[in-house]
Amino acid sequence: MYRFVFTQVLSRLDPEDAHRLTVRALRLLSVTPVLRRLVHRRLAPRDPALRVQAFGVHFPGPFGLAAGFDKEAGCVEALSALGFGHVEVGTITAHAQPGNARPRLFRLPANRAVINRMGFNNAGAGAAARLLGRTRGVPAIVGVNIGKTKVVPDSGAVDDYVTSAKELAPLADYLVVNVSSPNTPGLRDLQAVELLGPLLRAVKEVADGTPKRTPLLVKIAPDLADEDVDAVADLALELGLDGIIATNTTIGREPLTEAERPRDRAVRDERGGLSGRPLKARSLEVLRRLRARVGDRLVLVSVGGVEDVDDVWERLLAGATLVQGYTGLIYEGPLWAHRINRELSRRLRRHKVVDLRQIIGRTAG
Ligand SMILES: Cc1cc2nc3c(=O)[nH]c(=O)nc-3n(C[C@H](O)[C@H](O)[C@H](O)COP(=O)(O)O)c2cc1C
Repeated sequence: MYRFVFTQVLSRLDPEDAHRLTVRALRLLSVTPVLRRLVHRRLAPRDPALRVQAFGVHFPGPFGLAAGFDKEAGCVEALSALGFGHVEVGTITAHAQPGNARPRLFRLPANRAVINRMGFNNAGAGAAARLLGRTRGVPAIVGVNIGKTKVVPDSGAVDDYVTSAKELAPLADYLVVNVSSPNTPGLRDLQAVELLGPLLRAVKEVADGTPKRTPLLVKIAPDLADEDVDAVADLALELGLDGIIATNTTIGREPLTEAERPRDRAVRDERGGLSGRPLKARSLEVLRRLRARVGDRLVLVSVGGVEDVDDVWERLLAGATLVQGYTGLIYEGPLWAHRINRELSRRLRRHKVVDLRQIIGRTAG
């Protein structure tokens, strides 16, 4: 059904128009109590074996929606009802900003990939706080991903993140410092430990000061050199962070296959971050490296090229406590998370696993 809608309708629309249409439909679902409860009852994960605890938060399932889809925190209820065990909203910046000029989102269907250079288009931390502060009609675990406002100079980056953290940390189940998106000039330079240390320290002070102490994670790029991945891991341990999210999109184009069709070839050199299937191998590699470095002392959240239950299974075995996806939703449609949960349940039963802790990190060295 979704394949039909995708090929006949959505793929003919400009990708960003298709996204806007989808978000509008989900917003409608979010504010329609009877419907959202019905969808939640049918599609949200209910198998106790899928439940997992990370940094003190109870997740109904390990598979969640990565940042970038619900940039303004407008449809977390609908997304949770569809089966995502958590929804990471954002990236949200302290000040509202329009993002980059369109077109800024491109599909590469033959590669099951997307290139985006959205540039953190969002209504700002204040607007997001108002939406996040509303009572929810269905249970939802919400991570809040924050980034730097584009017009703020690098010298003001720490204050800018702190402004967002003060506004949003009290409303988040966990907070993420995003220093890895390729579409805000200079942002990824903040991954250097000399700059990252002071930034994370300042945001952590805010997160630690909320009534419930908000868990804090950092999201990293797949393009970091291996030694830099290790350095960030060591810093996260030193500062007492709760976890690392790996990875964001890549600026590399090498992972694209030779089997591109002309349509993919036409967009491959667009500037921006590449996501989806071509990111799978590097994302898994970074996860393995992190697990080898930190063991189970940090919660690892794996994202990048996750398409199906096999990928989720592989990430759990490699040491991820939580797994996320975004591009898969574009190609697989609204039942994607539900399907992954159902198949994961079956697989756990087949392996006689009653608690995810029995498998997390089992293939890690
Ligand atoms: C259109 C689009 C927008 C994104 N925006 C953000 C963002 O605002 N913040 C962020 O941390 N990651 C963002 N991401 C990255 C995703 O969260 C994820 O890390 C990346 O796409 C890899 O996962 P995937 O292969 O499952 O898509 C975005 C990805 C896409 C495709």
